[in-house]
Amino acid sequence: MSDPLRFNPRVATIPFKRVGILGGGQLGRMLALAAHPLGIQCRFLDPAPDAPAGDVGELIVGEFDDPTALDRFAHGLDAATFEFENVPVAAVEQVARTVTVSPSALALSVGQDRAREKALFQELGIGVPRYRLAATLEEYGRAAAEVGAPCVAKTRRMGYDGKGQHVLRSIAEADHAWRALGGAPAIFEAFVDFSFEFSVIGVRGVKGEIRTYAPIRNVHQGGILRTSTVPAPGLPQALGDAARVHVAAIMERLNYVGVLAVEFFAADGTLLANEMAPRVHNSGHWTIEGAVTSQFENHIRAVCGLPLGDTSSRGTSVMHNIVGDPLNAAVRLADPRAKLHWYGKEPRPGRKVGHVTIVTEGPTG
Ligand SMILES: Nc1ncnc2c1ncn2[C@@H]1O[C@H](COP(=O)(O)OP(=O)(O)O)[C@@H](O)[C@H]1O
Ligand SMILES: [Mg+2]
Repeated sequence: MSDPLRFNPRVATIPFKRVGILGGGQLGRMLALAAHPLGIQCRFLDPAPDAPAGDVGELIVGEFDDPTALDRFAHGLDAATFEFENVPVAAVEQVARTVTVSPSALALSVGQDRAREKALFQELGIGVPRYRLAATLEEYGRAAAEVGAPCVAKTRRMGYDGKGQHVLRSIAEADHAWRALGGAPAIFEAFVDFSFEFSVIGVRGVKGEIRTYAPIRNVHQGGILRTSTVPAPGLPQALGDAARVHVAAIMERLNYVGVLAVEFFAADGTLLANEMAPRVHNSGHWTIEGAVTSQFENHIRAVCGLPLGDTSSRGTSVMHNIVGDPLNAAVRLADPRAKLHWYGKEPRPGRKVGHVTIVTEGPTG
């Protein structure tokens, strides 16, 4: 550890000034807010003129498949990334002809397809729920029969916040699933009777250095994350450590640069990997106040080739999402320890419009 009171001139110059971010949602907004103290400005590309990140950086309004918009976006950038995993891979590939995009198009393409995620986890020896793939009505029936009920059918691509999923209570419901998912290519997974869900967020720098944050216990309702707690109550140390090792292995395998989040189920004292997100993640919002360096700052640092910051926790953190109802925010702020993050979005049922974090003294990790 270097002497904190001694100024190190080697880090006095930040070579990167402008980072482009594909997507202008709340994740982009929080990335820009973390970049600003480092002297780094963010530019966004998003189809929505009222995208939340537009308040804190230059917003180019355009579609992700518009080559002219992509060129305008890429022009003059020092580095680029994305905050939304459904950005078309072709958009990343076009931007990558002008400026380095991290994580890579490969990592993005794996993160867009639940089947490729599961195959990667299995290749690395990480446990996953029993699953089968299906693309036709007949295959839906066979996949349900082979996985058994209860099971959950998910579209392989484009799902988020529980969207694109259908739970089957009996294998005879395969045709309901087919209709519910619009006949899309799907993955059928055994419904896991988990004790709880947790996630691990890691970051890898351009030179391959890796840091992981303390595992996070997550509660979802209706497929939407509601609360995240660190340290994860009830998570045995060995399971959390194993998950951190798995996340490091995934990042190494993908030659990953940036922040990666992996969601796990804890069931019967073991872990099963659910999915990964090749970006900053909602379950890591607590790191803004609850870790020495936030996931947002570390993502910017990684993408810009800067040294990574310490991922240690400062205490016990609880993050509550504010979903749909803005009144919720005022109630939360009644606690003087509460730190509110409001995304500037129009409240709608089921929409994440902000979050609140409370950090208290406690064990760190
Ligand atoms: N196989 C499963 N067994 C039990 N619950 C599941 C299963 N898959 C998903 N879920 C529940 O649904 C939530 C959302 O599913 P997930 O696969 O993470 O999709 P996304 O977050 O992309 O919408 C999970 O966090 C979990 O609560
Ligand atoms: Mg999920």
